[in-house]
Amino acid sequence: MINKHSPLPIYYQLEQNIKEMIEKGELKPGEMIPSEREWAETYEISRMTVRQAINNLVNDGYLVRKRGKGTFVATKKIEQPLKGLTSFSEDMRARGMEPGAKVLDFHIIPANPSLAEQLDVREGADIYEIRRIRLADQLPMALETAYISCSLVPNLAAENISSSIYDFIENKLGLTIRFATQVLEASVARKMEAEMLQIKEGAPVLLIQRNSYLDNGQPLEVVKSVYRADRYKFMIEMER
Ligand code: GLP
Repeated sequence: MINKHSPLPIYYQLEQNIKEMIEKGELKPGEMIPSEREWAETYEISRMTVRQAINNLVNDGYLVRKRGKGTFVATKKIEQPLKGLTSFSEDMRARGMEPGAKVLDFHIIPANPSLAEQLDVREGADIYEIRRIRLADQLPMALETAYISCSLVPNLAAENISSSIYDFIENKLGLTIRFATQVLEASVARKMEAEMLQIKEGAPVLLIQRNSYLDNGQPLEVVKSVYRADRYKFMIEMER
């Protein structure tokens, strides 16, 4: 499978081979891959070359190194289409996963000028600040901080936010969520975020801000989320 006469570097060929084995399911998520020595012996190449290939695959998120244990095939990333206004719970259920929310913080704060403007309330008005870890099959995927105007959703209770907020808004309050804007940005996990998401400080994350609106144009929520970049990728369909 490795062609030493090819103009393609050997580490690159090995990288492609390992990727293919992952894609074909010959190496499964969570499975430990052979050691550097084993790859080197199988392909009759140097361990340095193997290390280079594996380092690249770790950096690209295909493999994960666990100290003192070995190198494992990473869990497949969730591919989230950037189409349609869906909730976290809907997205996870659509993939056969059980959505969850661990509430870290839930209280009322006075709207600062920026949030007041975005939520179309007066400065200092009461707004909810809701911080939740979003889980899929119990695993942390994202850290979400939502701001919602108290006048729009009076009497929001802790039990309403420990599952789907959209479900509560639409099915219990009878409001219609119509559209949203969403901005994605690359960043790295800060200490607190890393702890909550069970990743290393400095690991790549995706910052997402969603501003969503009701059918009468009234702003419903401003949500700032930190998604694990090792678990999520976004897909957009384009037409020309
Ligand atoms: C996504 C969005 C959030 C939204 C949430 C609602 O995560 N980024 O802006 O608040 O879905 O999800 P759920 O209804 O599961 O609480």
